[in-house]
Amino acid sequence: MPRQIRFNAFMMNCAVHLAPGQWTAPQDQSVGYLDTAYWVELAKLLEEGLFDGLFLGDVIGIYDVFDGNARAAVRTAAQVPMNDPTVLVPLMAHATKHLGFGVTVSVAYEAPYLLARRFNTLDHLSGGRVAWNIVTSYLQSGARSLGDTALRAHDERYDRADEFLDVCYKLWEGSWEEDAVVRDRVNGVYADPDRVHAVTHRGRYFETDGVFQCEPSPQRTPLLFQAGGSERGTRFAAQHAECIFLGAPTRNGLRKAAQSVRTALAEAGRAPDSARLFAMLTVIVDETAQQAQARYAEYRERASYEGALALLSGWTGIDLSRYQPDDTLAYVDTDAGQSALASFSKLDPDKVWTVRDAVDFVSIGGRGAVVVGDASQVADELQAIVEETGIDGFNLTWVESPRTFRDIVRYLVPELQRRGAYKTHYEEGTLREKLLGGDRYLSAPHIGASYRRRSH
Ligand SMILES: Cc1cc2nc3c(=O)[nH]c(=O)nc-3n(C[C@H](O)[C@H](O)[C@H](O)COP(=O)(O)O)c2cc1C
Repeated sequence: MPRQIRFNAFMMNCAVHLAPGQWTAPQDQSVGYLDTAYWVELAKLLEEGLFDGLFLGDVIGIYDVFDGNARAAVRTAAQVPMNDPTVLVPLMAHATKHLGFGVTVSVAYEAPYLLARRFNTLDHLSGGRVAWNIVTSYLQSGARSLGDTALRAHDERYDRADEFLDVCYKLWEGSWEEDAVVRDRVNGVYADPDRVHAVTHRGRYFETDGVFQCEPSPQRTPLLFQAGGSERGTRFAAQHAECIFLGAPTRNGLRKAAQSVRTALAEAGRAPDSARLFAMLTVIVDETAQQAQARYAEYRERASYEGALALLSGWTGIDLSRYQPDDTLAYVDTDAGQSALASFSKLDPDKVWTVRDAVDFVSIGGRGAVVVGDASQVADELQAIVEETGIDGFNLTWVESPRTFRDIVRYLVPELQRRGAYKTHYEEGTLREKLLGGDRYLSAPHIGASYRRRSH
């Protein structure tokens, strides 16, 4: 039996996510991100292709590291303008039955109580199909826009995120007992006050004292995703994440990244396979290999080097205007995302990246690899990647919208199904049950499960 491959679509609520320049093609519809119909149609398409989820990235702030200003990002629409991802969920949930929704929200600027309430609402409205991608932010521009002078130091952001999660677990898991909601119409009792408890937290960063105002949602805690691959980020993931999103440009790098996550899970007392691993990947597939290659050549022509410079500078915290295109990218610790630079420097010692190589690489599909071919060639490559690295699937980026996903649904999904490597129907249940099997709630030894009150 071949390994099963899972797909999520990786998008953002903006016109240019990870393929700057492509929005200029006359047939491209990514500027439709401002319309509800765009998202509803996309969600239906992904469900037709049995995708597990639509995974929405997000950033707070704009990419102003390159050349010390935001001109390149604004001109090329490199993740600016960008809208809030959370509000897209209910309209897409209404139009689908099984598709999950992974939503990125940074803990940097949120109060745990408010974030817990928002995810509780989304989990209810989607019938238990929501996941939270926990990020800690990497753009200084965001910090300044929110009234801070600078981001906290890289590792401290994760310390604070640990405590943020503690508070959320207390609220989601510990305030309302399982049978607190009785909805007894005869006696006029909606919930039993004896089974609803105040939550207290007094920590280094957060304080809360009181009853959580939301009744338990289908998953209580949303399915937890995480994507930070630095050493500290991996430790955070091993503690909290149920799905981990890896971004590595080479297969060797991806294998190492997957291994280090599995080891970290074991060190955190969890089974190494207790989290699902997804790699960022771009697929360009067409009816024939020649057509796919021709389209890839077209995309390369259209790719915006300037937009990619703005993105890569923002991710790494390094102003690439100070480098020559042939300079080698070397690893330095920065206070932006550390794993982005590591993936182009120390992650895979077999490959040396110049600035030009790395910028060209990220200009189509960001930090993940690009696979081009007919359905059979692409399926071969995807199967080889999962066999070699032990990952569970892919978060697929888009180059042209909605074409990238339409082609995957039309050509690749049926080919993988023929090979027995892709599901032919959805499982029932919440997103957590669909992805992990087992319970709809967090279960031991996940730390969040320990906060749940037993009914008395
Ligand atoms: C594949 C991938 C996707 C990511 N998507 C987002 C995102 O949408 N928003 C965000 O703020 N950070 C995103 N990140 C960044 C990480 O969550 C993390 O904040 C950043 O990489 C810094 O942490 P690190 O130094 O531990 O990698 C992503 C990272 C990876 C590898």
